[in-house]
Amino acid sequence: MAEPIFVGRSLSCFFRGVTALKDVNFEIYAGEKVGLIGSSGAGKSTLLNLLNGKLTPTTGELQIWGKNLAALSTKQRRKVQRNIGTVYQQLNLVESLAVIHNVNAGHLGRWSFPKAAFSLIFPCDRPLAEKALQQVGIPEKIFERTSELSGGQKQRVALARVLVQDPAIILADEPISSLDPQLSQDMMDLLGELCDRQGKTLVVSLHSLEFAKSHCDRLIGLKQGEILFDSPADNVTDEQIAHLYGDSPIY
Ligand SMILES: Nc1ncnc2c1ncn2[C@@H]1O[C@H](COP(=O)(O)OP(=O)(O)OP(=O)(O)O)[C@@H](O)[C@H]1O
Ligand SMILES: [Mg+2]
Repeated sequence: MAEPIFVGRSLSCFFRGVTALKDVNFEIYAGEKVGLIGSSGAGKSTLLNLLNGKLTPTTGELQIWGKNLAALSTKQRRKVQRNIGTVYQQLNLVESLAVIHNVNAGHLGRWSFPKAAFSLIFPCDRPLAEKALQQVGIPEKIFERTSELSGGQKQRVALARVLVQDPAIILADEPISSLDPQLSQDMMDLLGELCDRQGKTLVVSLHSLEFAKSHCDRLIGLKQGEILFDSPADNVTDEQIAHLYGDSPIY
């Protein structure tokens, strides 16, 4: 069997007295579409931020492509991170810039500093940015100031940035939270196709159980920082869901 892309071993993450994740274990393989579900505060964003190296586990070890991420040099870590694209819950867009610059930020791991600076005046690789914006349904916004877009349009700019980056792994933190039902369907279809057609791996946190079940092949249910279940999406029971979102303690 192929080597897993991610291995989490006894991962815990504490923030000043708050336990965001506690003794979490998992393996994620290439091409999987993994949904992270659970109530607000369950630890979904924390887990995604451990996967992309934005956070370091307080205890335990996260391996990516067989390497302990925390033990890599800055240069090695950046090389790995170039292959991980993240749509952040807070989007992390530069609001004062035109959309094309935010989309082109997907190139930053590859472009030299002079090229990146030049592109802020004369945008490079416009066809690729246009294609990405076409894919997310807002090609006409390419030169608009990002601050003037709606929440749902900004969310799609963040996704277009990841499309331009073209990473092997996509991490998406509630990527459809500001989208209407039809756009949510379109964006989830797009993420699914990137895995099915291009073999990318997707880890996506979702508050919509419906989309989690329809677009992910595996669901990890997080409750109070612990994994309540990790199973094929079709096998998740109503009882597990009730326990996941209910008030009762994890055990
Ligand atoms: N930087 C931080 N400093 C302090 N506490 C934090 C920090 N980040 C997360 N937490 C805490 O860790 C816990 C898990 O937070 P996290 O953001 O991972 O939850 P989540 O499942 O993504 O929630 P949501 O669905 O609301 O986005 C929460 O109790 C949160 O308050
Ligand atoms: Mg979150």
